[in-house]
Amino acid sequence: MTQIAQLHLQHFRNCTQAQCKLSTGLNLFVGDNAAGKTSFIEAIWLLATGRSFRTSKSHHLIQHEHTQSVIFSQVTSSHNADKTHKLGMQKNTTNTVLKVDGEPVKGQIHLASLIPVQLLTPESHRLLEEGPKARRQFMDWGCFYQSSDFIQQWRLYQRALKQRNHALKRHLPKAQVQLWDHQLVETALKIDVIRQDYLEALEPYLMTFCQALMPEVEEAVVCQYRAGWPKNTDDLLSLMTQNYLKDSQVGHTQYGAHRADIRFKFGNQEAMNTLSRGQQKLFVCALLLAQASLHEKVVHEPVIMLIDDLPAELDENHRLKLLELLQVLNIQHLITSTSESLIPILNPENSKIWHITNGEVTEKRA
Ligand SMILES: Nc1ncnc2c1ncn2[C@@H]1O[C@H](COP(=O)(O)OP(=O)(O)O)[C@@H](O)[C@H]1O
Ligand SMILES: [Mg+2]
Repeated sequence: MTQIAQLHLQHFRNCTQAQCKLSTGLNLFVGDNAAGKTSFIEAIWLLATGRSFRTSKSHHLIQHEHTQSVIFSQVTSSHNADKTHKLGMQKNTTNTVLKVDGEPVKGQIHLASLIPVQLLTPESHRLLEEGPKARRQFMDWGCFYQSSDFIQQWRLYQRALKQRNHALKRHLPKAQVQLWDHQLVETALKIDVIRQDYLEALEPYLMTFCQALMPEVEEAVVCQYRAGWPKNTDDLLSLMTQNYLKDSQVGHTQYGAHRADIRFKFGNQEAMNTLSRGQQKLFVCALLLAQASLHEKVVHEPVIMLIDDLPAELDENHRLKLLELLQVLNIQHLITSTSESLIPILNPENSKIWHITNGEVTEKRA
């Protein structure tokens, strides 16, 4: 399922009401600073993932002086325009109601599985700089769509981890901590295999897009996966047992799938140390494009790419290169920019331009 055919917003941030019939290729949202461009991207990301990339507070997302915001989208299969679903989210300050085809659903997963979106913002290069959380999220995004078992294992793991950490923190008896070890280890090992397989499948795609976007970098990229426990561990359960004392001293579980990470290397150098800031941004684009291509290959549906403030992200030549790749990959993309002239329209047939002023969105007539 994977084009947004329609998008409706109501009382979301500074947008009172918006209705857009999106194009299947490029949708360019143009507006001055504070017009509401990022809010638009944020609304789609929120509908798809249940999270905002700017705030964790619901009341920030609801238009001032209103009690509820609504995001609604109709998504269609790129292969079969008759295959459509209606996704809805109603949010007040304390509660979120999710709907698929008019029926309330429990759990974001029902929406996420119908609308795979990727996000590139001027903050995306943090994927390389910051702690492992963002890299795990990147990896798990792919695992979620590729392995039907992943989400189940991940949930079981999270539950066991939470309970184990709770017992450690409260200094409950050792047996109450170790009660969770078996489930923790069993699910960690399953998650581990899925993650390894995913990164192995991703690597050749990543090489291709690094080559396309940064041909000047000679060494090939390597993804080094870190499981979240020492490499030479052959029995994770024993490691947990051995590590109990340390875990109880620090009050949480030190080894496990929640500590996994990826090191991206060019030659012997970490990407973060060898690439310039500009190249780091290109590398993050390559990561997303690699994921998008692999997703299409395995799931047979394209992803939707959200790109906030593209001119802040890439220079003119690389903007063009990225737009060309998105057209070739046939990915619906929503891009924001403060100026129309900064984004070339490569294929007017599948592109639309939208103007945003004070949260109001209008389609620009050619
Ligand atoms: N809950 C809200 N209600 C009303 N206006 C809001 C709310 N949250 C943010 N805004 C305003 O919405 C505007 C749009 O912000 P943003 O989407 O970041 O714009 P842009 O990306 O175009 O610069 C800003 O002026 C901001 O003050
Ligand atoms: Mg913005």
